[in-house]
Amino acid sequence: DASDIEKGTYPHYMLKEIDEQPLVMRKIIQQYQNENNELHIDESISQAMTEADRIYIVACGTSYHAGLVGKQFIEKWAKVPVEVHVASEFSYNMPLLSEKPLFVFISQSGETADSRAVLVQVKELGYKALTITNVPGSTLSREADYTLLLHAGPEIAVASTKAYTAQIAVLSILAAVTAKTRGVELSFDLVQELAIVGSAMEALCDDKETMEAIAREYLSTTRNAFFIGRAVDFYVGLEGALKLKEISYIQAEGFAGGELKHGTIALIENNTPVIALATQEHVNLGIRGNVKEVAARGANPCIISMKGLETEEDRYVLPPVHEDLSPLVAVIPLQLISYYAALHRDCDVDKPRNLAKSVTVE
Ligand code: G6P
Repeated sequence: DASDIEKGTYPHYMLKEIDEQPLVMRKIIQQYQNENNELHIDESISQAMTEADRIYIVACGTSYHAGLVGKQFIEKWAKVPVEVHVASEFSYNMPLLSEKPLFVFISQSGETADSRAVLVQVKELGYKALTITNVPGSTLSREADYTLLLHAGPEIAVASTKAYTAQIAVLSILAAVTAKTRGVELSFDLVQELAIVGSAMEALCDDKETMEAIAREYLSTTRNAFFIGRAVDFYVGLEGALKLKEISYIQAEGFAGGELKHGTIALIENNTPVIALATQEHVNLGIRGNVKEVAARGANPCIISMKGLETEEDRYVLPPVHEDLSPLVAVIPLQLISYYAALHRDCDVDKPRNLAKSVTVE
């Protein structure tokens, strides 16, 4: 059938979609450039971003994790405060809103009921909303005032991969253009940096044998696994843990490195895999301290670091990219490691039990 053709020679959609990420980066750069090769989004959107005194990002699952990364860009580059909320909690736990809020919904499918419920609610209150989605004409796109598209192509595998990196890339462009509209000068060229990310992603996708070996080494028989990181690496760890749970059924959790000692470290046993991300210079010492703490209690640490921050004990070194954009590359090994862990454990990679690609009930 048609879906077989689309998968081509790939054994699973998930692997195909992981491999498409460098291409999606290039597509996004193209789609969001004007004739002068400058980054460009619809002016009504940059205007709305500039007029807002606070941005409220609302999303579920992987899209929520992309929102956490996007918050960093918008706050750091465009200097607008951002809150990120899980959609299902928002409606009955609504934060005290600022005077001029702008709502940003992130949804691959544009159909998630939990997110839509919040959109309906904030529209009723008279607020403006922007939807970032992969599906033109989807419900969340139609019902919001503005839309930004991911241009990632259809995502079939239940576990989201290329939509996550596309969401982060589009959020980076949204933040950069907002910064410009607000008169804040960025110290780097985002187009160039995203192109470097695309090449780095390609190198990672070409290194599947190493990813398979890491999965075999750390995850083929374990009951659980932890992902730790500080700063933005913490958010990438949350996504890494979600990928692993979704498709391999290994109980996996992401933790902030500094928070470990306040409880979670009690779970560390002999050989517990702890995947530690070290892509941020300002927290490199801190996360390495956390690795020592868990190793001293018997854990089996797997450090994934960024070139320039690496030490001899690291299991994998990522090609260097702009530090703020590191989630775009750091997540690729985590996606691939989850994929191979699921394969080794004979799980149905594309259609994990109990999960749906798009959840249209609240
Ligand atoms: C479902 C999927 C997740 C996805 C979430 C949000 O639970 O299984 O992979 O992240 O919905 O989906 P959305 O389409 O709104 O991004």
